[in-house]
Amino acid sequence: MSVIAVAPAAGSGQRLGAGVPKAFVTIDGVPILVHAVDGLIASGVIDRVLVAVPAGQVEAAQTVLDGRPVEVLVGGADRTASVRRALAALDDVPDGIVVVHDAARPFAPPGLTAAVVETVRAGHGAVVPVLPLADTVKQVDDLGTVQVTVDRSTLRAIQTPQGFDLALLRRAHAVAASAGAAATDDAGLVEALGEPVYTVPGHPSAFKITTAWDRGLAELLVAKGVR
Ligand code: CTP
Ligand code: MG
Repeated sequence: MSVIAVAPAAGSGQRLGAGVPKAFVTIDGVPILVHAVDGLIASGVIDRVLVAVPAGQVEAAQTVLDGRPVEVLVGGADRTASVRRALAALDDVPDGIVVVHDAARPFAPPGLTAAVVETVRAGHGAVVPVLPLADTVKQVDDLGTVQVTVDRSTLRAIQTPQGFDLALLRRAHAVAASAGAAATDDAGLVEALGEPVYTVPGHPSAFKITTAWDRGLAELLVAKGVR
């Protein structure tokens, strides 16, 4: 069964505040988007890669991706819409496995992608990498006063790449679109269908670059050879 990767890269990177879309911000001189795509390809389990970029950035993305076998398309107003546009470009694909991976996670290990795909192949229709929480977690009200300490033992931080049976992810996005719903990840849309989402161990290197601190951390990890 063919495996298609979708990399939503159409965000503006407001919190990073680099003045250019986050996908084009460099780590070690290489755009974040290129790191992410190279990581997907290096997994050896991906047959086709689609990337959703901001309007007006298609040519720029093709230029930085420099001959890699990647299809670049225009994303949407939010992450959910960007993935939906990529799925629309796959209308003629009858079935398969789709891996959705934030371009903003440039150092997700190739082995993590392979593990996610393997777990979908084993029969799980939706698979997400997760990490336990290291910090104590508390619920806080609007005034900043702690309401309650949450039991973190059952909580997990969710990463990408997330793997799905293509038909299931299509159905999840179709239902979300007709309800006008969006989610911060694709598994959330599958959960909304009432379908199970399975977890596999995530990896610290799959962290998302959100702020300038994260970018600095990424540069340090490369410099130390530990990414
Ligand atoms: N994304 C996307 N289309 C959007 C918004 C986000 O494809 N309209 C992608 C981003 O490019 C990123 C991933 O979704 O790879 C996770 O989003 P996030 O980290 O929030 O990135 P940005 O939206 O770019 O950042 P910010 O929220 O700080 O503006
Ligand atoms: Mg965002």
